[in-house]
Amino acid sequence: KPISRRQALLLGGVGVAGTAAGSVGLIWTLTSREAPATGSDLAQPPEERSINGQLEVRLEAAPGQLLLAGRQAAALGYNGGIPGPTLRLRAGDVLKIGLVNKLLQTTNLHVHGLHVSPEGNGDNVFVAVDPGGTFDYAYELPEDHPPGVYWYHPHHHGMVADQIFAGLFGAIIVEDPEPIEVSAERVLVISDTTLDGMGNIPEVPEMDRMMGREGELILVNGQSNPHISARPGQRERWRIINTCVSRYLRLRLDGQQLQLLGMDSGRFPTPRTVNELLLTPGNRADLLVTTTTGDSTLLALYQNRRTMPGMVGSGAGARNPADQSDSTALATLRVAGEPAAAPRAVPAQQGPADLRSAPVAARRQIVLATGMGMGMGGGMMRFTINGREFDEARTDTTVAAGGVEEWTLINTSPMDHPFHLHVWPMQIIEEDGAGTNAALWQDVVNVPANGRVRVRVAFKDFRGRSAYHCHILDHEDLGMMAAIEVR
Ligand code: C2O
Ligand code: CU
Repeated sequence: KPISRRQALLLGGVGVAGTAAGSVGLIWTLTSREAPATGSDLAQPPEERSINGQLEVRLEAAPGQLLLAGRQAAALGYNGGIPGPTLRLRAGDVLKIGLVNKLLQTTNLHVHGLHVSPEGNGDNVFVAVDPGGTFDYAYELPEDHPPGVYWYHPHHHGMVADQIFAGLFGAIIVEDPEPIEVSAERVLVISDTTLDGMGNIPEVPEMDRMMGREGELILVNGQSNPHISARPGQRERWRIINTCVSRYLRLRLDGQQLQLLGMDSGRFPTPRTVNELLLTPGNRADLLVTTTTGDSTLLALYQNRRTMPGMVGSGAGARNPADQSDSTALATLRVAGEPAAAPRAVPAQQGPADLRSAPVAARRQIVLATGMGMGMGGGMMRFTINGREFDEARTDTTVAAGGVEEWTLINTSPMDHPFHLHVWPMQIIEEDGAGTNAALWQDVVNVPANGRVRVRVAFKDFRGRSAYHCHILDHEDLGMMAAIEVR
């Protein structure tokens, strides 16, 4: 039986990352950026770009005094910064990542949303890299890999939520075959965490894990309410990633024109005008922002995840209905100066092949449920898929390669669960009884409390063993995950 999270924390978890790092004499050199004060300009993480079809990077996961919300925090980072470097790729590229584990706990790496092999040294989430260890990942992106916004984060079961909450995440961009004219392109990696007065990330109470923790700070590229400056009439491209462990982001940027190119690996044929975006944990938006005039605030509106009524804790379940108008300023857009020349039209975009009229090889039901079980200290909530908690040794779903399957995702619990399937993108066919009239491909889809969603998945390539799970990563760590094998 794998070591429990509580045991792992006692052995040196993220809650004591800073002090533990000092006590074992790890030398931490700050390679990170200058401290931006609150209200400073939005910084971009360092970028690594593929050359001649290849990108080779070293990612060192380590504890340190890292910059968060303008403060030195005892956190975890890749290569000394939060977020880690942005990796820019093209379809057909080979991405090689040398992961170095300088943590005091086991970790590994998942390239969220990339359509790459789950086997061997590919996107294999069953690899465990122990403290002091290394692992060389190699991912081959197919020639027809969808462009879009992806990301990377640890995926060692039981530790995922804590490690992401402490700062381990970074962006991956797969560039368009044909560029879209914009005056600026920005990556907005949104995360949340909690820092105590000492700059430590406090241990999360068990109740908050069950509800899905929400951090007290919501940050963009590790910054608190940074500024973005633009001229009127400019078209910018914002690549937005929700890396929060549990927080749903309902985003608004009133006063500017917002056009959504797509979500996750999906694309609309022509950009869709939107007023508001809902990103569940794990979701990404590829957004065009055309400035009008005047300043605007990027707001995260409070989003009720319909957690259990009457539950206590600092998670969303603790919010009372009167708080629902709450919002947090994530960034401030300042529009001033001479108007910019009108940008060229966006070329027509193409998403993956539409599966709505494809023959279906198999139909399955995936039931996401919560129930009561017994834990060490008494009653514990259980988080299951088709009645079972995750067991790495068991394969829950075996799929014959080559076909299109239709999965009905059924949530029998009183809280929302964002469902994530690795490797193979899902096309959403029906949400809560209503058919969708757009071809939507997402790798995380919200399954509302007591609701259902129908998706289709083409298992046309990439055999091997991987996983699907709730992307409220506390729920994933508590067992709401299953293993899938395509063969
Ligand atoms: Cu972003 Cu299996 O996770
Ligand atoms: Cu969940």
